[in-house]
Amino acid sequence: MNTSIFFENLVHEDRVHRTIYTDPMIFELEMTHIFGQVWVYLAHESQIPRNDDYLTTKLGLRPVIVLRDAHGKLRALFNRCTHRGARVCRDARGSASTFQCPYHGWTYFNTGKLRGVPWPEGYACDFKDNKFNLAQVPRVESYRGFVFGTLNTDAPSLEDYLGAARQPIDQWLDRNPGGRVVVREANRLKFKGNWKLAYDNAADGYHVVFSHRSLLDMENRGKEDGKGMSFYMGKPDEAPMYVQYFGRGHHFKDKRPNVEQRPGALWEMEGLQPGMESYARLIRETLKGKAARALDLAASEPVNINIFPNLSILGNHIQVFQPIAVDETDSTWFATAIVDDENELDGMADAVNAIRMRTQESFPNFGEVDDAANFEEIQKGLAACEDEWVYMHRGLGIEGRVQQLPDGTLKAPATDEVFMREHMKEWKRLMTTRPNIVLHR
Ligand code: FES
Ligand code: FE2
Repeated sequence: MNTSIFFENLVHEDRVHRTIYTDPMIFELEMTHIFGQVWVYLAHESQIPRNDDYLTTKLGLRPVIVLRDAHGKLRALFNRCTHRGARVCRDARGSASTFQCPYHGWTYFNTGKLRGVPWPEGYACDFKDNKFNLAQVPRVESYRGFVFGTLNTDAPSLEDYLGAARQPIDQWLDRNPGGRVVVREANRLKFKGNWKLAYDNAADGYHVVFSHRSLLDMENRGKEDGKGMSFYMGKPDEAPMYVQYFGRGHHFKDKRPNVEQRPGALWEMEGLQPGMESYARLIRETLKGKAARALDLAASEPVNINIFPNLSILGNHIQVFQPIAVDETDSTWFATAIVDDENELDGMADAVNAIRMRTQESFPNFGEVDDAANFEEIQKGLAACEDEWVYMHRGLGIEGRVQQLPDGTLKAPATDEVFMREHMKEWKRLMTTRPNIVLHR
């Protein structure tokens, strides 16, 4: 089969074929061509702060242990015993210098090297042979705490891969004390739909006022001034927010221009949450003139920065998409907290984080469920096999609507589907390009 003609027929300028969401064979190819080819988000450094810390996750479908080895080096080991294939580590996270496979007791150092096997006199082989070490992701790098891995030795550097998306990531981090956040626990959701449905929605400004009506009503209850996502009411394309396409599948929904550029403006927009008033009062009484900045840090940053294929940095969250099957996906919303080593906030970091946690509970519980319901309904709708096309042509063909900026990125009004047309082009390019996958041992 000529894969380029095959995929040419599935991805057009204005539409994609239903089978890219439903066909198990295409899903299987994605695990190599997408998740095996690009830099995939794995973890945040703050989840494994010390040497020997680890967590278990997946790279596509591959189970991996992301860790700092005994020497501090970041690694992503395949969580797959070289003996008969069992997952070596079964815990979500912890600290260990070695891992012993529970099946027959083979033991590995956290560098991936085989340490030993029980009763070796029963073997005639040389266990010093590298083939008995755990396989590992050949390239693991961090961008300001975000740890990515790629199996593809031909992939560009991580910085080049992120490209223009680095600027909003930098801005998202730099507003915090010390220019960093730490990742905390998560809201863990799962939906019965293809992983791309979540990515297609990540910069979608068209659905908000319809899909999230009850959330908007709740956030704005009894208020004259707009709270939360109220700038989506009316005609979102007339608001100053915009959508931007960065290249390599990454995109950005920037809602910051809707908010006045002054300390305290973000906080004033934050929807009501239980208990926030008493913390806000404490922060105001303690910090006086400096309170506005601290309260803004407790409020959600109005951005969605989407890093293809599996990471979205939005509000104060990190959302991670992980495929389970062609029609099932994990969607995990990690909370983030500020750390104030220099005491810029005069001891108020805990109070900021207490409010921040409330604001971070809000969207996964009251908004993501709306989105997940849509993803499941799309998956069900796409079972109508004779009705072949999914349209993404909003904005296409309207002169002047999509602008190319001097840096080559594309900018359009908030409800435009240009971001999806572009990431689908990138998807098609990757599906017809073979990665150079080399495992290290
Ligand atoms: Fe791991 Fe046998 S499968 S020791
Ligand atoms: Fe949504």
